[in-house]
Amino acid sequence: MRTPVIAGNWKMYKTARQAAETIRSLADLVKGVQGVEVVICPPFTALAAAVEAAKGSPVAIGAQDCYWEKEGAFTGQVAVPMIADLGCSHCIVGHSERRQFFGETDATVDKKIEAVLANGLNCIACVGETLAEREAGQTFAVLERQVRNGLSRHLTSARLVIAYEPVWAIGTGKTATPVQAQEAHAFIRQVVAEAASPAAAQAVRILYGGSVKPDNIATLMAQPDVDGGLVGGASLDAASFAKIVRFRG
Ligand code: PGA
Repeated sequence: MRTPVIAGNWKMYKTARQAAETIRSLADLVKGVQGVEVVICPPFTALAAAVEAAKGSPVAIGAQDCYWEKEGAFTGQVAVPMIADLGCSHCIVGHSERRQFFGETDATVDKKIEAVLANGLNCIACVGETLAEREAGQTFAVLERQVRNGLSRHLTSARLVIAYEPVWAIGTGKTATPVQAQEAHAFIRQVVAEAASPAAAQAVRILYGGSVKPDNIATLMAQPDVDGGLVGGASLDAASFAKIVRFRG
């Protein structure tokens, strides 16, 4: 049995003070929830305050990106040991916004995942097709390329979580239907089986991301290959994110 993961990606929202407030409310709202891992990924500047606010609660804190070198002359970058030192346990890698706007490639995704796992953190590695790729019938080819080129060296790690995020569903209010999500997740799991092993494929958690809300999480989670959610907009509000965490009702 795969333990579900519900992760919030706050993107470029919230100051340190706002992050701490939201996390304290969230910690209260999810108290006693069993059988689901809860993660919040605030901006770098709010990580320390977030870790402090989450202490003693089941909420884990993660970064949204990292650099793969452990230190050096890399102005503006943040190394994984620095993220770990703050008390973070997770890091997102390869989000489509990083790929679209900041030059992330499958090759850099591979290096970042390696750094995250080498430093003992959990990695949420994102894949997903654009609207143009879906309409051109390339969804599976894109997913296979992203998994094989970016993730394949890391697929047997229990600390690797995959997030399937169709780019056309992110922040658009257009969720993939549960059938579309299941189809993509099952395909990704099959690629993991071929690239690594059937055991790795059975074990790896695959999260769905893209306009996840309190009212659609249950049907998504009912799909056999959907093991959780990576939530953007609906994670900014503690009450709405807590409802997603409590998807079982
Ligand atoms: P969204 O973002 O929930 O606002 O669509 C998801 C994501 O980008 O991780």
